[in-house]
Amino acid sequence: MENVFSHLNQIDPIRENIIKGLQSIQQTEGYLSDDALIACSAYFGVPLAEVEGVVTFYSQFKRVKPGKYRISVCDGTACHIKGTPLILEWVSAELGIASDETDDDGLFSLETVSCLGCCSLAPVLSINGEVFGNLTRKGVLRILKRFKRQSK
Ligand code: FES
Repeated sequence: MENVFSHLNQIDPIRENIIKGLQSIQQTEGYLSDDALIACSAYFGVPLAEVEGVVTFYSQFKRVKPGKYRISVCDGTACHIKGTPLILEWVSAELGIASDETDDDGLFSLETVSCLGCCSLAPVLSINGEVFGNLTRKGVLRILKRFKRQSK
């Protein structure tokens, strides 16, 4: 809990700064744990239910701890048209996780993100920031295999 508070001490403890506080924690931790929400509630002096409401309302906030390999499938317009739903289906089928989930080993997590800024390569995904484009089913499976091998 103390660790979570350390992210907040640069921010004025007023209600208007709840989102800023949550963003700050998420930027460092990669997600918002129960402890993070409790810390925000105490720090900003608002009921926990209100903090949970804010987190639920804004899709930018993640409640699930990301895996060692964070798979971000682009769902910007160009990628969506060129097959984001299929990419998600292939990754899900291979890893047994849906979007916004992390596998039981904590190895892979899956999420959708908005435009990654390389639309000419659509459809695109990134893993821990490394971008892969012009994806096909075969290509997706090859990429996942590489990261599975890397994890051993
Ligand atoms: S829409 Fe996917 S990279 Fe721009």
